[in-house]
Parts: sequence; structure tokens; C-alpha cells
Amino acid sequence: MRTMRFDILTLFPEMFYSPFEKSIIKRAIISKLIGIRVHNIRDFTKDKHRTTDDYPFGGGEGMVMKPEPIIEGIEVIKKEHQDARVILMTPQGVQFSQAEAKRLTSYKNLILVCGRYEGFDERIREFWVDEEISIGDYVLTGGELATMVVIDAVARLLPGVLGNDGSTDSFYQGILEYPQYTRPRFYRGKNVPEILLSGNHAKIARWRRKESLKRTSARRPDLLKKVMLSPEDDKLLAEISNDSDQELRR
Ligand code: ADE
Repeated sequence: MRTMRFDILTLFPEMFYSPFEKSIIKRAIISKLIGIRVHNIRDFTKDKHRTTDDYPFGGGEGMVMKPEPIIEGIEVIKKEHQDARVILMTPQGVQFSQAEAKRLTSYKNLILVCGRYEGFDERIREFWVDEEISIGDYVLTGGELATMVVIDAVARLLPGVLGNDGSTDSFYQGILEYPQYTRPRFYRGKNVPEILLSGNHAKIARWRRKESLKRTSARRPDLLKKVMLSPEDDKLLAEISNDSDQELRR
């Protein structure tokens, strides 16, 4: 068993306490499947006022994160983990996805750098940063929430962190998940589909695959273009389009 280590550089270490002290992530830490250390960027400043940001050269709005505390913080962490991969959280990065989460599981150590203010001094990128990640096309007040998203998505893919291996996840297979039901069987006039109670596993599997394809084609047709479909899937998709034609004619 190996422990995947996450080192976080942030100006707000407290933001991480609650999310990582709960549920699955906490269990993964206790069982040493992952290790998370939060470092305060301010601890790597050397001036009396512990300054982490400053005015931008050339003028303009907002403040810029100074290079020295972040670069020296990365170097201190790297002394312990030379091969750690350094990731800068920024809306300018490569867009995060399930495939990116899977890719990151191959590293033993990640250093995640969270920015605040208007941005980073460009030299931070030039010294140690291996890659930049964005969690989506919107701007957050800082990289902390983005870092939590990345750690959560990566950690749950590591062997042993979840009860199952995640292989039935939506996105793992490239399409959306089928509808799930549990008890009660009858609720406010909406009943659980009969087929799920039939005990016929082959029929249930076919129904689920068809529902997954139906949902994906309605909500995320872009995913259907990227995924490898079997001849059986093509048949199910033909049925789905037939069903909806009939629905329209009704
Ligand atoms: N910091 C601010 N916005 C961000 C985003 N969308 N992704 C990653 N880091 C960020």
C-alpha cells in the first residue's frame, strides 16, 4: 500500500479543516491511504509585516502574489519530496475532468498552490510549476475550493478509499449514470420501475444501459461522440429515438 501525499500552499489553512475532517477523506487519512498537509504561505515570508502580495508593476487594479514566499515554500516541501508535482490552481489552467483526476493518481506527491488576489507574479510559474489546473470557466476568490475539488476527486479513485473501485461511476465509463431507486417501492404515486423488481439480471442490465444512453443523449450529447459504443448500444440508441418519435406522435 502506498500513501498519496498532498501538500497545499495557501493563505487560508483554516478553510481546509472542515472538508478534510469529514467522512471518506478523513477515513482515507486515518488509514494512511492519503496524507494531507496544509502550509501557510505567510510562514515563508521574511519581512516584519509578513507580506504576501504587492502592487502590480505597470499599474492596474488589484494586488499580485509575491514570488518569494511561494517559491521558497515549494522548495521547502520539495526537500522532503523531490519528485512532487507542482500544480498551480488558476482559471487559466487546463480544465479539470474525470480523466485528469485519473491521470493525477499516478503521482505520489502533489503540491497544490492556491492563489488569492488578482494573480501570481509570473516568475512563480517559471520556477517550479509543472502544470496549471482550472476547475471550470468561472473565477473563484481563490484556489482553495478548487484544490478541495481536485483532492476529493483524486482521492476517491485511489485503491481502498471507497468501498467499491469506482468502476461503475458516471464518467468512468464516459456516459451518465442510469436512474437509481431504493425503498419505498411506492411513493406519492411514483413507483419503482417493475423491471428492477423482476430479478432478471440480464434484463435489468439492458434497461440500465438504455437509461444511461437516453439520459446522456438528452443531457450530454457531446459525451456520446467521444465514447466507444458497442453494436448493442447502437441498437439501444435506435430504440430510444424510436420511442421518442412515438412519444411525439401520441
Ligand atoms: N482560482 C480562481 N478561480 C479558479 C478556477 N476556476 N479554477 C482553479 N483555480 C481558481
